[in-house]
Order: sequence, then structure tokens, then C-alpha cells
Amino acid sequence: MSTGTRQIGLSAPWLDEREEELVVEVLRSGRLSLGPWIDRFEEEFAAAVGAPYAAAVSSGTAGLHLLCVVAGVGPGDEVITSPYSFVASANCAIYEGAVPVFADIDPRTLNLDPAAVEAAITPRTKAIVAVDIFGYPSEVDELQAIAARHRLTLIDDSCEALGARYKQRPLGAQGQDAVWAFYPNKQITTGEGGVVTTWSEQTWKLLKSLRNQGRADGGGWLDHARLGFNYRIDDIRAAIGVGQLEKLDRILAGRTEVAARYTELLADVDGLGLPCSDDADHQRSWFVYVIELPEGADRESVIRVLEDRGVGTARYLPCIHLQSYMRERYGFGEGLCPIAEEKSKRTLALPFHARLAAEDQAFVTDTLRHAIG
Ligand SMILES: Cc1ncc(COP(=O)(O)O)c(C=O)c1O
Repeated sequence: MSTGTRQIGLSAPWLDEREEELVVEVLRSGRLSLGPWIDRFEEEFAAAVGAPYAAAVSSGTAGLHLLCVVAGVGPGDEVITSPYSFVASANCAIYEGAVPVFADIDPRTLNLDPAAVEAAITPRTKAIVAVDIFGYPSEVDELQAIAARHRLTLIDDSCEALGARYKQRPLGAQGQDAVWAFYPNKQITTGEGGVVTTWSEQTWKLLKSLRNQGRADGGGWLDHARLGFNYRIDDIRAAIGVGQLEKLDRILAGRTEVAARYTELLADVDGLGLPCSDDADHQRSWFVYVIELPEGADRESVIRVLEDRGVGTARYLPCIHLQSYMRERYGFGEGLCPIAEEKSKRTLALPFHARLAAEDQAFVTDTLRHAIG
């Protein structure tokens, strides 16, 4: 057993001289917003996920909100989504006055269970926001079929899944509108930022207007065709994104290797649940390494031991419907989504990034074994 403490953070971006060089280039150009780096980032990002159109925005949350606006989500509507996600995938519906409806998850993948989604549909349902949680692709075909059958909009929250593959093609290439995010714990970062990818030219044009205060294509600076937002990304961030895409393959390979090492190191811990493995149709892009503690283990004391030894950890993920503001607004409580609630009590994220050293991983897993007892 390794002893002592180390400082091992939960995540770390991979930035180097290339991003520095690109940022300096933008600064020297004097054009910091609405410049050429945004188009370039969008084109390269669209190519990376196999979608025809991309619109860069200020965050993943902004992208999800805009797709709800495009879908015409409004007061009186319901939007079905996953309780086991980051709050933004539910909040985007609330911003437009709709009510989030939580369908339960599949216990293996932790993504929305398509049967639960279908069972949650009512005459008020307007859209489904699926989430590719922890980078594992959701059941795109089934969800697209359900959406088509009931004339609903499907939005894929792929904020954690850049680089994932579904049925041998990049996630994003299946015809769905999808949102991607670049906070520094993500596969690539722009500091803050996001992209919406779409297969509709009309949606793409609308997104570009909505993110830019509703200005119309070709109109003047003070001509506003619709109610819009300032959800623009700037050229500095877009240039960082270009630098990040250049090393995307290396980042993804590093993350895959680190995940495989955790899986090997933890394979023999009794009762410990490890992230589900890929199958023929689903290939994960590693976002975080989330374990499920053995039944009966006290998660809070495990967290204390890890933290005392400098190992970063997080309770990924609390159920969205059990957050205090959700309970207060909608009266949600325990029992609404039993599978998500059960998973949520026992899951825990370990330090994870593309360049995590093997000896740090050994320290993390030794400490974890000791903490579980
Ligand atoms: C599943 C999911 N959806 C949405 C978001 C929101 O992205 P952002 O933080 O860029 O607004 C995140 C990122 O934290 C996320 O993990």
C-alpha cells in the first residue's frame, strides 16, 4: 500500500505552446470577436463529428438553450430528459417555460432508457433531451425512432462525448442536432465554450442569428430580426479550440489508455462497479472515470480518506430531480426514478485526464482499496 499524500486533481486540460501561439496570433490580429477563427473552428469541429453544420456558442448550456428555442419549446410543453446528468440538460427546457420530465436510466449505460422515454410521452411532450453521459453514446436509433413516431424534437446533449462513436461512425453523424461543451474538464477545452452541430441548414442559420442577438444574415449591426441572445464565442477561444482539435486524437488515445489502466488496477476489487464496456454499436469517449462503490460501502468515509491523501474526487452525479430547486418548483421527490437514484448514491469520480501518470493512478487505486476496506 502506498502511503503519504499526493495532490492529484480531478481533471486537467492538455494545453501547450500550440494554443499559446494561436492566442498570440489572434491578439496581434486585433480582431477578437466575429472574426475568422470562429468559422475555422466550426468547420473543423463539424468535420471531427461528421456533421455538415456547426455553430459555436459561449457554452454547452447556451447551445442546449438555443436548440430548445429552435424546437419551439415553450410554456405548457414538457421535455423528457435524464435525471442522471448535469443540470443544464434539464434547465434548458425551463428557460423557455417548459416542464422537465425525468425518465429513468438504463442501469448498465446510465443513459436514458428508451422504453422509459416512450412511457413518459404525453400530448404535451415537445422534445427529448438525451444525454451521452460520461461519454457513452445513448441509444440514438431508438430515440430517433421514438421522436419520429411522436413528432418530437430530439436534442442530443453530447457535451461529455466528443470522440465517441455510434454504430461505427462518430457520434454526431447520425442526423441528430447535438451540443458539445468545452469547460476545462472536457476532452477539449476553450476555457468556456460550446458548439451545436446540426444537419439542417435552416437550423444552422437560425442558431447563428440567435447567438448573435437575433441579427439577421446580411442585415446591419443594429437590425434585429428576432429575439436573440449574446451567446457568441470569441476568436481567442475559437483559436484555442483549433489548437485542441489538432491534438484531439492524442487526447482521446491518452484518455483511453488511462481508463484501461484504471480498469486493470481495479478489476479485482470485490463488489466494485466499473464503467460499462463498449459493444459493437457504442464506443465511449472517456470523459471521467466513474466507479460504483460496493453495496454497503460508506461513500462519505471513502471520500474523506481520498481527500485526506490529496486524491480529487466528486459525487458524480446527484439526481437532477432531487436538487433543492427542482423539489421546490415541481414537487419532485425520491422514488421518481429509482434506478438513477440508486446509482447516484454509490457513484464516484476518480482523478482522470489524458496525461495522468501511471504512478498517480496506482496511488489513487491503492488509496481507494484502503478506503473501501
Ligand atoms: C451533460 C452536460 N450537459 C451540459 C453541460 C453544460 O456545458 P457548459 O458547462 O459548457 O455550459 C455539461 C458540462 O458541464 C455537461 O456535462
